Amino acid sequence: MKIGIDKIGFYTPHLYVDMNKLAVARDVEPEKFTIGIGQSQMAIAPITQDPISLAANAALQIIDEEDKAKIDLVIFGTESGIDHSKSGAVYVHQLLGLRSEARAMEIKQACYGATAAIQLAKGHIALHPESRVLVLGSDIARYGLRTGGEATQGAGAVALVISANPSVMVLEDESAYFTSDIMDFWRPVYSETAYVDGKFSNEQYIHFFAKVWEQYKEKTGLQLADYEAICFHLPYTKMGFKALKTILEEASEKEQERLLTNYKTSTLYNRNVGNIYTGSLYLSLLSLLEQKEDLQEGARFGMYSYGSGAVGEFFSGILQPGYREHLFVAEHAAQFQARKEVSVAEYEAIFQESLPTDGSTVELDISQDPATICLAGISDHQRNYVNKQQ
Ligand code: CAA
Repeated sequence: MKIGIDKIGFYTPHLYVDMNKLAVARDVEPEKFTIGIGQSQMAIAPITQDPISLAANAALQIIDEEDKAKIDLVIFGTESGIDHSKSGAVYVHQLLGLRSEARAMEIKQACYGATAAIQLAKGHIALHPESRVLVLGSDIARYGLRTGGEATQGAGAVALVISANPSVMVLEDESAYFTSDIMDFWRPVYSETAYVDGKFSNEQYIHFFAKVWEQYKEKTGLQLADYEAICFHLPYTKMGFKALKTILEEASEKEQERLLTNYKTSTLYNRNVGNIYTGSLYLSLLSLLEQKEDLQEGARFGMYSYGSGAVGEFFSGILQPGYREHLFVAEHAAQFQARKEVSVAEYEAIFQESLPTDGSTVELDISQDPATICLAGISDHQRNYVNKQQ
């Protein structure tokens, strides 16, 4: 049975900071951020957006009445969730008005969460071909002001509908995965920001890539030349390039050129959003699908997912006939177009704003946030969301 991505949506908050200006404020050469790290803009989440609202906004864009009738499983991948008990999936399920006869859950393994969700979704569809699964990957990446990781922050969500006979991409059955207990990046439950051993995390990302790529080739007999492109989890856009470089020589010069050109296109959205953790790989895939107009149906795409701690996985997808009609190119272009730049001082002020943690009530001003779904406040220890369309 063919199972894969039927639709893919994306949402990022309406604010961003320019990396050149952030570099000046941090007294580093702008090229370090724009070339060395490979980031141009960094999305900033206002206090009225959290991982739930980001995910709901991403899904709202792509879900139609048929999806609503068929989705019976919602899986929310995140590493910046808002509750130790209740899943983000239940909130999004309600905000979208999905049918009650559904399962909903949250899944966690750093940036690998959405990939884990997709693999589970495939199993569900294999048993229930008429169903559809909504997979969400939503995060706000926070390392802290003036930290080593600051230039690799970001915010956003992807939403994917996984189904049988998908319109966009069939995900091939074989997959290669690798788990090892390492401390490259983590966030203890008491911390609002991540802890990271930056250099070690870079090394491990590449080490895990080598492991799963070799394993994948052994399992499938596929070679680098069989790929139109390889998409990577992108904590920052230079990272995937570093990994790609380690295998490029396996292909001819012409193929290398194609892979490098496509890699560049696959980083365009991420370059202007930053790290969105669980959604980053799928944002990169979306960037390539939407920004390269002449992709051929039947083309094979490799996907490398990495979640610190750590789990790596490599798998492949085949582009489907007519895929472009099922993308949301104009909506995503409009979203980028409508974003507003904030100064470094404004970004710092937004970063330091926080929600009460002592049970007190707060009402947030959502009039300045153009998103359809916003966090409107907290009362009785409960987050209150508003869908402005309802
Ligand atoms: N012009 C051009 N390039 C310049 C430059 C200049 N003026 N100045 C510096 N550079 C280059 C450096 O040469 C370097 O390039 P290479 O990596 O190719 O050698 C690059 O800019 C970065 O410079 P540094 O290594 O000095 O940067 P840093 O140590 O300050 O920080 C970082 C880099 C370690 C990635 C840090 O941003 C960080 O800790 N980020 C968070 C962790 C992370 O993203 N890890 C990635 C793997 S883990 C993962 O993927 C999971 C996840 O999502 C977190």
